[in-house]
Amino acid sequence: MSWKTALITGGSTGIGLELAKALAKRGTKVVICGRRQSQLDEAVKEIGENGSAIQCDVADPAAVQRMVDEAHQRLGSLELVIANAGIGGDKPAARLKIEDIVPMLQINVIGACATITAAIPHLLAQGGGHLVGITSVAGYRGLPTSGAYSASKAAFSTFLESVRVDLFKRNVKVSDVRPGFIETPLTAKNKFPMPFLMPADRAAQKILGALASGRRVYAFPWPMWMLIKVVTMVPGWLYDRLGGSVDFRKDA
Ligand SMILES: NC(=O)c1ccc[n+]([C@@H]2O[C@H](COP(=O)([O-])OP(=O)(O)OC[C@H]3O[C@@H](n4cnc5c(N)ncnc54)[C@H](OP(=O)(O)O)[C@@H]3O)[C@@H](O)[C@H]2O)c1
Repeated sequence: MSWKTALITGGSTGIGLELAKALAKRGTKVVICGRRQSQLDEAVKEIGENGSAIQCDVADPAAVQRMVDEAHQRLGSLELVIANAGIGGDKPAARLKIEDIVPMLQINVIGACATITAAIPHLLAQGGGHLVGITSVAGYRGLPTSGAYSASKAAFSTFLESVRVDLFKRNVKVSDVRPGFIETPLTAKNKFPMPFLMPADRAAQKILGALASGRRVYAFPWPMWMLIKVVTMVPGWLYDRLGGSVDFRKDA
């Protein structure tokens, strides 16, 4: 499967940049977006002649609409749209403030959903396409210290499932990509152990392989997927005890 055109939000670093580079190498014309112009300029240099950028903060739904319309105009179509822009962050509930949660939901949920809703009319008008959300294995369960992040990814995953059902008969594929730990600027800040950490270029290859084969939901790397599968089967009473045994007293 090859796409002639693609829009990737948050394509200036990490997973988004590696996806953009891999697609451009295969001949796809790619538009990326992000907030920092300097980072976008660097990224476009790396992506090469098939890449271009639009500065946009996805936290602003009106700006997202303008950005998606401009990408469509520039590319002539939107065959692949990847809502990837997102932020991370962890904090135990005892210290969590609503100020920590609002930006996370604004970018990871509102921004991601706004990207998808702005793209849908273009895909329907052109007779089909592929919508993708980069969520996380963190959305399968409320992970310790990750209330805001887990909630944001669970919300976006659920949204994507509804969109898939609604567009089932309209030749629009919808994929939910749920990575484990990937080596990017986002995870570089983490001070805790990250099992099965995968380089971002390898992650991009895995994601594109899964999209080409039409995967609806793709959680990876597979050892992390197996671990999360087990975690989802743990009964609530035991999950509370295991999660609650993580020692946050220093932070509480
Ligand atoms: N790395 C992991 O282990 C991992 C695991 C599971 C899921 N994910 C998800 O994968 C996605 C990409 O993460 P990453 O690890 O590649 O992170 P990253 O390297 O920090 O990249 C994030 C990208 O999103 C952009 N971005 C952030 N906020 C934005 C906003 N408000 N508007 C527009 N662009 C914005 C950033 O550019 P600017 O800062 O310049 O805006 C950057 O291009 C995220 O949704 C993340 O939650 C990552």
